[in-house]
Amino acid sequence: MQVTRLWLTDFRSYRELELALDLGLTAIIGANGMGKTNLLEALGVLASLKSFRGAPTESVIRKGAAAAIVRAEGLRDGRDVLIELELGRGRTRAQVNRQRLRRGRDLLGALRVTVFAPDDLSLLKEGPAVRREYLDDVLVGLDPTADAVVREFERALKQRNALLKQCHGRLDDAALLTLDVWDDKLASAGTEVTHRREELVERLLPQVQHAYTTLASASGVTGDRVGASYVRSWSGLSLAHALGESRDTDVRRGVTTVGPHRDELAISLNGMASRTEASQGEQRTLALAMRLAAHRLLADVIGEPPLLLLDDVLSELDVDRADALLANLPPGQTVITSATELPTSIDPDRLLRFDPAGGDLIEDRS
Ligand SMILES: Nc1ncnc2c1ncn2[C@@H]1O[C@H](COP(=O)(O)OP(=O)(O)OP(=O)(O)O)[C@@H](O)[C@H]1O
Ligand SMILES: [Mg+2]
Repeated sequence: MQVTRLWLTDFRSYRELELALDLGLTAIIGANGMGKTNLLEALGVLASLKSFRGAPTESVIRKGAAAAIVRAEGLRDGRDVLIELELGRGRTRAQVNRQRLRRGRDLLGALRVTVFAPDDLSLLKEGPAVRREYLDDVLVGLDPTADAVVREFERALKQRNALLKQCHGRLDDAALLTLDVWDDKLASAGTEVTHRREELVERLLPQVQHAYTTLASASGVTGDRVGASYVRSWSGLSLAHALGESRDTDVRRGVTTVGPHRDELAISLNGMASRTEASQGEQRTLALAMRLAAHRLLADVIGEPPLLLLDDVLSELDVDRADALLANLPPGQTVITSATELPTSIDPDRLLRFDPAGGDLIEDRS
């Protein structure tokens, strides 16, 4: 779906906002704190029902308001689509073309977005959890049914961990029976999650390499080799078996020590671990390459590019890489924000500026 118009009510700093987007490149310029990220965040929430800032969904509700409303009008296969999301405290309501969806989550898949935000440096810098989340997000983008699989796994894990914690290192017969049940569930959902992630990494790697090379070669760096591999936290043929093997340890520690929640997506640059060896700029480029790779894969599979949201990306890259990014934007709709002027080499289809005086968002037609 392409978004032509966006309305916000009580979303973060916005009491009311109406905004038209171009089907090509829309640029939004404004000083720090004006609400640029909030805007992109709203589009992100429509797509994934969560904030890419990693904040709890309720934090998007404007301070003092009861609920936030995000509405977007757009086009899918040439037809008009209207999606609406109401985020209240503790409940989410969604509508597509004024038809109420049974659950908020049924909105997943209606709008797809790819986000690149300054925080994405954490994709390289932080522990494995952020990279697992990256993979799972892409899986859900490719196939919304993956959401149910991931959640089923998470539920089983939570319950198994609760049981392990409860039994304080000793299992009676009743607890043993219950543990068997959670092991079964965890093994089947966990195996599915692992297989899906592994298959995804195979498909993503060539795209990450391609995106990285495009950006890096702009600043004269050629021949860098990016690697990505999925590393399981368990060995042997089956997760069921691995859970059995680790049962004593798990009971003693009160936590599940093997499974997809402990797996890693290892990224390397020229054979060195990117988390510890790559430079800051290389990590930024890698993070961007990971996002662009997911973007291209989604576009191929869905047959339509997701909406690309680039938050403050220019301040993150050297001039040559920034130019290369903008000159090689994937086809489709893009919204970019910046606190500084855009390089003169790019000419957005629509340019919006926050008025420094009143904070209004005004179209720049010059
Ligand atoms: N729930 C909320 N209710 C009201 N205001 C909020 C809420 N959450 C955030 N804000 C306000 O939104 C503003 C920040 O907006 P945002 O992060 O979009 O700015 P920005 O234009 O992206 O700035 P920068 O250039 O620094 O990234 C802050 O002033 C913040 O106080
Ligand atoms: Mg911002």
